[in-house]
Amino acid sequence: MIRVFRTIPEWLTFRDSPECRGRPLGFVPTMGALHAGHAALVQRSAEENERTLVSIFVNPTQFNDPRDLEKYPRTLEADLGILERAGASFALVPDYRELYPDDYRYRVQEEELSKLLCGGQRPGHFDGVLTVVMKLLNIAGAGRAYFGEKDYQQLLLIQGMVRAFFLPTEIVPCQTVRQEDGLALSSRNARLTPEQRNAAAAFPRLLGSTLGPQAIREALTAAGFEVDYIEERFGRRFGAVRLGEVRLIDNVEI
Ligand code: PAJ
Repeated sequence: MIRVFRTIPEWLTFRDSPECRGRPLGFVPTMGALHAGHAALVQRSAEENERTLVSIFVNPTQFNDPRDLEKYPRTLEADLGILERAGASFALVPDYRELYPDDYRYRVQEEELSKLLCGGQRPGHFDGVLTVVMKLLNIAGAGRAYFGEKDYQQLLLIQGMVRAFFLPTEIVPCQTVRQEDGLALSSRNARLTPEQRNAAAAFPRLLGSTLGPQAIREALTAAGFEVDYIEERFGRRFGAVRLGEVRLIDNVEI
């Protein structure tokens, strides 16, 4: 049975107890609404560590659009079932006041990469991500933490933060899990209408094609997407598009 911790002190007491000290722990931070992409991170952690902690916290400081925060799916009961099947031992489900006793007066900022790509369109987004991940890594106290390449810019920023602040956790990147038609699994896919869901498959197909960024942008626009960016950096091609109100991001190796 997965053991659920609802408060941070409860987890810290357990983490520092003789039962836990010295036993390999893997950590997977999430915002819930879990799917097979999250489950793959948990499975990988369960293979590489004796026990795995998963946090579920919809982090308000990384949402720049209050409507997006409000509409973010919250499915705790189903999430705990998925975690149990994927091999997680512990779930931490803290609330805002506990995780932000300072009400976000203190924050982690990065000055370069966080301003590009998704950071250009979502001011403050990566400050919120880095701040909450710093808190969660400190609270988890794990030897390894698992992050998806689906959010590649986030992964690079977290790796950089861990180096910059000498955090004692190894960051393990995990491949993007996709549906059969290539669409990367995302909690936001559930908000697509059936027609939009069909159309969405063109996004990974074009992003991974031999076309250049400008031609991809034009083809996506012709297919009914609003294109936020298509950009090549770090040997990868990054894209962000919108179908109606739903924003999708993806990236592929070039
Ligand atoms: P969330 O979107 O819930 O994602 C949690 C983790 O699952 C992230 O590392 C993300 O990259 C990974 N993930 C999501 N979809 C995936 C897929 N299709 N394949 C592989 N991995 C996938 O990312 C966040 O939450 C938050 O920003 C967080 C890091 C928890 C900080 O609040």
